[in-house]
Amino acid sequence: MRELRLIFLPSLLILATLEEAASHGDQPLSKIAVQKATFSLNHQAYIKVSPTVLGLKGQNADWVTVEFSSPNPSVDDWIGVFSPSNFSASSCPAPADNPWVSPPLLCSAPIKYQYANYSTPKYKDTGKGSLKLQLINQRSDFSLVLFSGGLLNPKVVAVSAKVAFSNPNAPVYPRLAQGKVWNEMTVTWTSGYGIGEAVPFVEWSWKGGLPIHSPAGTLTFDSNSMCGEPAMTVGWRDPGFIHTSFLKELWPNTLYTYRLGHVLSDGTYVWSQQYSFKAPPYPGQNSLQRVVIFGDMGKDEADGSNEYNDFQHGALNTTKQLIRDLNNIDIVFHIGDICYANGYLSQWDQFTAQVEPIASTVPYMIASGNHERDWPGSGSFYGTKDSGGECGVLAETMFYIPAENRAKF
Ligand SMILES: *[C@@H]1O[C@H](CO)[C@@H](O)[C@H](O)[C@H]1NC(C)=O
Ligand SMILES: *[C@@H]1O[C@H](CO)[C@@H](O)[C@H](O)[C@H]1NC(C)=O
Ligand SMILES: *[C@@H]1O[C@H](CO)[C@@H](O)[C@H](O)[C@H]1NC(C)=O
Ligand SMILES: [Fe+2]
Repeated sequence: MRELRLIFLPSLLILATLEEAASHGDQPLSKIAVQKATFSLNHQAYIKVSPTVLGLKGQNADWVTVEFSSPNPSVDDWIGVFSPSNFSASSCPAPADNPWVSPPLLCSAPIKYQYANYSTPKYKDTGKGSLKLQLINQRSDFSLVLFSGGLLNPKVVAVSAKVAFSNPNAPVYPRLAQGKVWNEMTVTWTSGYGIGEAVPFVEWSWKGGLPIHSPAGTLTFDSNSMCGEPAMTVGWRDPGFIHTSFLKELWPNTLYTYRLGHVLSDGTYVWSQQYSFKAPPYPGQNSLQRVVIFGDMGKDEADGSNEYNDFQHGALNTTKQLIRDLNNIDIVFHIGDICYANGYLSQWDQFTAQVEPIASTVPYMIASGNHERDWPGSGSFYGTKDSGGECGVLAETMFYIPAENRAKF
């Protein structure tokens, strides 16, 4: 985030990260020269992953054990996780401007990566290693790939079997936002069910009350909505469907429970787990409201992956602390620089998964920072490329903002 924002900050900051942090290095995924990747499959090499079906207890995150081996191990060998699993060239669009240039062998960046020696320092000598990685439900299946040649000249050495969540389309990662009036709460979530495939809604009630069903609207976008690279090219990933439901006429100070639902065309219901929130007080009511305001949090991975330059390492600590304090928080304002996806769209799912315990319980209000919005010629305040081509589309779609124009927040 840029210093200019300081001028607009209210003086009641409770928790804030105002300084231009050293964490403003490049997105770790941008260190991989995806377009230079070549195939160098070696039948003596392997990469195995278990289990291959995830989320069997209905959870949206799961751990896998990865075992791999290469006959020519090197200190800069690495493991990339691709999703969807069919990551290879056949899905690359041919470069439209120059039909004589052959398309690259990989068209998308991995959704996360780790060095082969991360848990096995002897890998470079023994050629054998193992890792534990956390995967979250991001609507598609996964495959894991062992690369040699480092990040700059990646060579595919071995490819794992496919791994998938038992229901990749499941409704996930609800985030609350205050509506336009005091007694309205909005619930936004992500699923793999498009309009026409299933009807999205929220089932909610106060304790002991009759359940109410409220409909949800559905948004998505394609890569033509992106302003440039990498969001439009190697960083692009199908965002799935983002649903928002409006829970109206809330009773002041009341505790509500809710869950996300989809009715499939055959009449089957798909449900999320159950969540709860407390409705706001009547305006002017004598009450204590505890507000947390911060910017620049970013995201990180519990398994230590994507750790180039220790990018945003404190994000998990901050998230954990907020979760511990949740009983003493009524609303959160994340005033910009949300997850530093910088055009690598997979990171937005990972961020909404990271903050789910917070955002599903108290309103999580976001504002736009340079890393969400800035792109030359797109009407942003600064003409830099800090959004990696997202030009605000991800932020304004993934989170609900109670503004007349969702592009201006
Ligand atoms: C592990 O790999 C990284 C990246 O190539 C390298 O910088 C580091 O020195 C390696 N560590 C060991 C113990 O080999
Ligand atoms: C990859 O899989 C997706 C669905 O998971 C499908 O839409 C796409 O056509 C596949 N691409 C290739 C090259 O098979
Ligand atoms: C985050 O928490 C871990 C484990 O509690 C600790 O080792 C680390 O120093 C913390 N990092 C920061 C940036 O505070
Ligand atoms: Fe920032």
